[in-house]
Amino acid sequence: MTSSLLRGEPSHSVQNAARLRGEPRLPGDKSISHRALIMAALAEGRSVISGAGDGRDVRATAGIVAALGAGVERMCEDGLNVDYLVMSPGVDGLHESEAVLDCRNSGTSLRLCSGVLAGLPFFSVLDGDASLRSRPVARIIEPLRSMGADMHARRSDSLPPLVVIGRSQLRAIDFETRVPSAQVKSAILLAGLRGEGRTTVREAVATRDHTERMLRSRGIEIRREPAESSGGGSVAWSLEGGTRLSPLDERVPADPSAAAFWLVAGAIHPDAELTLRGVGVNPTRRAVVDFLVRMGARLEETAVGEPCGDAGEPLADLRVRTSELRAIDLGPDDVASAIDEIPILCLAATQARGKTTIRGAGELRNKESDRVAGIVAGLSALGAQVSVSGDDITITGPTPLVGAATESLDDHRLAMTFAVAGLIARGTTTIDLAESAAVSYPSFFLELERLTA
Ligand code: S3P
Repeated sequence: MTSSLLRGEPSHSVQNAARLRGEPRLPGDKSISHRALIMAALAEGRSVISGAGDGRDVRATAGIVAALGAGVERMCEDGLNVDYLVMSPGVDGLHESEAVLDCRNSGTSLRLCSGVLAGLPFFSVLDGDASLRSRPVARIIEPLRSMGADMHARRSDSLPPLVVIGRSQLRAIDFETRVPSAQVKSAILLAGLRGEGRTTVREAVATRDHTERMLRSRGIEIRREPAESSGGGSVAWSLEGGTRLSPLDERVPADPSAAAFWLVAGAIHPDAELTLRGVGVNPTRRAVVDFLVRMGARLEETAVGEPCGDAGEPLADLRVRTSELRAIDLGPDDVASAIDEIPILCLAATQARGKTTIRGAGELRNKESDRVAGIVAGLSALGAQVSVSGDDITITGPTPLVGAATESLDDHRLAMTFAVAGLIARGTTTIDLAESAAVSYPSFFLELERLTA
């Protein structure tokens, strides 16, 4: 099944699978891996990051921090995850890169590194592939400029490439994000480390808090209001500039966004039982698990004793079995809390009894592709009843899927969603540019082959 990918062919086919059984290997959490590399570069000395996801996005961040002067060594790798040793001269020892900093397909690299570069007194250019060049940057230019960084981008400061001329001393700001975005929040907090005074970021919906947890574990006093750390609701995070980070010894949990593909596969497949080990179930990332349980998924969660790494990320083993799903209604806050899992949840909805509505999904148009258009086109091609009105998606189920040609739009999450659909669709499903899965999950198709053997 993987042969077409190994031959480097752009399109890949998935057959209907009789059974789905086993324990998929998962990549280390992409969001946490990026943050660990960035913070390791800011901290003077020797940091160790174990089990970082080895997708192309995280590799892009590793390349950027190396270009800025941190020593980045890949110690141990298995085709899915990698252990990094980072030797950094510390934030004041980082230097201007001779070359453009290549974020490739990675919005997280672009946004988070911008926050760091805002506080480094030299000239940097961040660029990436065609997809990245179509993703908005005004949302980070506005706050980082008001902190004192000089920032410029193409198309009246709206699209990459992005130029950052930083300053080692920035102004602290109190900023409310216009769209819930952990990337924007993280960029401001990272810049806030170089701010004079207290920098505050307010968000209407609590987005993933990995940056905050990791900063706290590195000795930064970071305040949350309200103080309790449950997911959802508005929240403000603030930190005092001028404190140095201590080096990291971080173990990265398995990525819940990667696990989501198998959770849905297990729930919708007629003969399935899958177990996912050591998955990150941070309250700001676990919404997909909770939504699937609300939909009736037979999903068992067993907490894994010790939280993971210095940042204290909670972990669980998840077991999913063939389920009878029912429709769910999701609003804009739900979309924000499961922003990366909406495509695979749409596939789950095609197999759920009733009408699923997902309102306020517009931010999905700003991802690696226009995911609203991509998911509607792909699932419709497979025979699902899907419609879109403005930014609202409606899916009526259950509908038997029929193998067809689908377009991933070179978007890893769409490629994996259509591959999972192919496991239950009659006949053969083809996915063009399926190889994009390697952006976040290098061994995804190998796992799929193993679990269906
Ligand atoms: C990410 C935040 C999300 C998410 C992305 C990773 C992060 O983006 O879609 O895959 O690591 O901070 P936004 O916060 O911009 O929505």
